[in-house]
Amino acid sequence: MVSRDQTPAVLGWEAFVAARTRAIRGLTGMVLELGAGQGENFSALTPGVQWLGLEPSSRFRRTLAERARHAGHHQPPIAATAEAIPLDDASVTNVMATTVLCSVTDPGQVLQETARVLTPGGQVVLAEHVPAPTGSSARRAQRLVKPFTKFFDHGCDLTRDTEAAVHNSDLTVQDVSRFHIRVLGRLHIPFVVITAQKPAMPQHTQG
Ligand SMILES: C[S@@+](CC[C@H](N)C(=O)[O-])C[C@H]1O[C@@H](n2cnc3c(N)ncnc32)[C@H](O)[C@@H]1O
Repeated sequence: MVSRDQTPAVLGWEAFVAARTRAIRGLTGMVLELGAGQGENFSALTPGVQWLGLEPSSRFRRTLAERARHAGHHQPPIAATAEAIPLDDASVTNVMATTVLCSVTDPGQVLQETARVLTPGGQVVLAEHVPAPTGSSARRAQRLVKPFTKFFDHGCDLTRDTEAAVHNSDLTVQDVSRFHIRVLGRLHIPFVVITAQKPAMPQHTQG
């Protein structure tokens, strides 16, 4: 819940973008970006990372490939969905996705694929909107607007609980930073920046 005298929404958005940028900047090595869109995140990457982008939309891939080359990343974007990543097990150092888990068909499967392609100890950075508290006006608005965002905004489901999905996955949540972003009048939509890790060692259960 956001109190009235809290920082206005614009600052909420700026704080969210700053946290997202900081989290992405911490990624090194070979970084796989899921649902890379039209390449909005290149400026956040640390110089020297080997970027690999996955993007199912052919229209977005054209712009993405161009911007990637401009940013010095010459690997062509991968034409696939994040539910079936065409990469070997443990083949990338880190994974990132910004406002993508809300749009995929099966977030559980995407997180499973993410854990599969990550090297043990590798990190995942996710920046996503999440559902407002049950019974709040913001939650009602999210439910009302959802059919339109699903149709017009890459299948975006405004009520998808990505944070819960990560907690239920094989990844270990390391940090969740929370933000409230004002969208209309007094309506605030919660956003999160999540950092999670693939466990470094296989977990053995005792029989
Ligand atoms: C709201 S856009 C975000 C794009 C970009 N990540 C950004 O922050 O600008 C959602 C992206 O998710 C992609 N997407 C949708 N379904 C997907 C899936 N199943 N696997 C991977 N990406 C998907 C869309 O094509 C689109 O590029």
